[in-house]
Amino acid sequence: MSNQEGKAWVDLVLHAEGMKDVHLRDLFQSDPTRFDTLSVSTEHLLLDFSKQRITTKTFDKLFALAQEHELQTWIEKLFMGEKVNVSEDRPALHTALRLPKHETLWLEGKDVVTDVHQSLAKMELLVKQIQNAQWRGYDGSPITNIVNIGVGGSNLGPLMACDALEQYASAEMGDFDVHFVSSMDGSELEKLLPTLDPATTLFIISSKTFSTIDTLANANTAREWLLKASQIGAEIINQHHFIIATGNTSAALAWGVPEKNQLLFWDWVGGRYSFWSVIGMPIALKIGMDNFRAMLKGAHDMDVHFRETPFERNLPVLLGLLGVWNINFLDIHAHAILPYDGRLAKFPAYLEQLEMESNGKSINREGERINYRTCPVLWGEVGSNAQHAFYQLLHQGTEPVMCDFIAPATRYENGAKELQQQHRLSLANCFAQSSLLALGDGEQGGNGGANGYQHYDGNQPSTSIMLNELTPETFGGLIALYEHKVFVQSVIWEINPFDQWGVEKGKHVATSLLTELDKISDGDLDSSTKGLLRYTQKLGKENNNEN
Ligand code: F6P
Repeated sequence: MSNQEGKAWVDLVLHAEGMKDVHLRDLFQSDPTRFDTLSVSTEHLLLDFSKQRITTKTFDKLFALAQEHELQTWIEKLFMGEKVNVSEDRPALHTALRLPKHETLWLEGKDVVTDVHQSLAKMELLVKQIQNAQWRGYDGSPITNIVNIGVGGSNLGPLMACDALEQYASAEMGDFDVHFVSSMDGSELEKLLPTLDPATTLFIISSKTFSTIDTLANANTAREWLLKASQIGAEIINQHHFIIATGNTSAALAWGVPEKNQLLFWDWVGGRYSFWSVIGMPIALKIGMDNFRAMLKGAHDMDVHFRETPFERNLPVLLGLLGVWNINFLDIHAHAILPYDGRLAKFPAYLEQLEMESNGKSINREGERINYRTCPVLWGEVGSNAQHAFYQLLHQGTEPVMCDFIAPATRYENGAKELQQQHRLSLANCFAQSSLLALGDGEQGGNGGANGYQHYDGNQPSTSIMLNELTPETFGGLIALYEHKVFVQSVIWEINPFDQWGVEKGKHVATSLLTELDKISDGDLDSSTKGLLRYTQKLGKENNNEN
């Protein structure tokens, strides 16, 4: 039976017919207690979905859809380490990365919790050595700069967390800066390296596979820089200036970095789900191990909530099902992520990978093509900045867009009055925008009358997520909330969210094209690619002749 033939799906299609013309303004007018019915809070956060185009009936039908897809069984499969990543024949156990030490989880005769905590303990040892200035560069100087080299999941999570939680860094955690380098073309290294002292710079090469060409290219450039500056052999440079966080220890060894400098994680951790592992070392360096563990605790609390809470109050389940409702039944295919807090500026980019690399699929778990929508196009920006950029489209464009507004309720508690005032201003904008997007300007019209261009239709659905405050713990919970939301949707869509075959082919094509860049080839290339190659070759030759 195809997904769309299930009873609950058919029922939702019919229900959506009746809901398509219902305006959020009417829903609010007819029920003044709408917020109370359609919001859920936990110890650390509040989810307000009253501005979604739903009624309580919609939820009943969505829960029936979840039952029909055996969501609870799938949640158990995920947590128990069953091979939910079917195309790669392995579990997806990021939840094990945040299990407390006293718990156990057996996988093929091994307790993975023991492995996880051993790996964390080794990371802590290295973090402390660096923080206490015991880790030294090739000439005996303490480290002053850490550069994380990695891309995708080996970059976006740690980068986002370091930015979001910067205020938790303190002088006792060491006197060094943490930088991030990801881009294949060398732009970041070109800018960064001249500002660094090679003798006091430590690189963390973060790569699950240790085969990602972007990361290896940056790592090689960094090592050449160190070798040239130090005039010392590679062995000493590898020992004093490189730490590797990877799942591929033999490749890391072959690159020259000894085992004592390697931090390990496992193939059952997906790259975009990995920053709870040793991939999070830059976070631990920046905010300290205690705060890193608080982040793990926040995520673990969300795991327990996801696994044990009835669907009616289960935050990831609600968030996931609301997305399915918007995408598959209300035909909304764009999703804006709008944090009203500059510390979460990198959150949209992180979610772009988490959501689109996980659920941007059109083949189900059985390998068959599906004929319904899955992951929407997702993008975002700090909300107040986006107001001056793309909100025009949200308010008056032709595209229906669902939005997530995210903000901390409190901030700058002990800070300057002016900053407290700025936080209030930001919240006022957050609430005003979600309200205007939902309700519109209250006028009927916009049919080309004289002032039609001033009209706001409204009826753009949104969810507001309020954190009590942004701490390592609430931040961990927020990220885990989205991880599980993605999983919920994948279950309804019957797809595997843990592989990413759609990025593999491009890597192979690029590798073969690299050899073509230096020669005129009349091979099997399309005429556009040939034209681009020739243009590049011609300019390259001209530049070489000029030099
Ligand atoms: O190419 C996509 C991808 O595999 C992502 O899934 C991953 O996060 C990123 O590349 C980096 O991979 P690695 O950590 O193996 O270098």
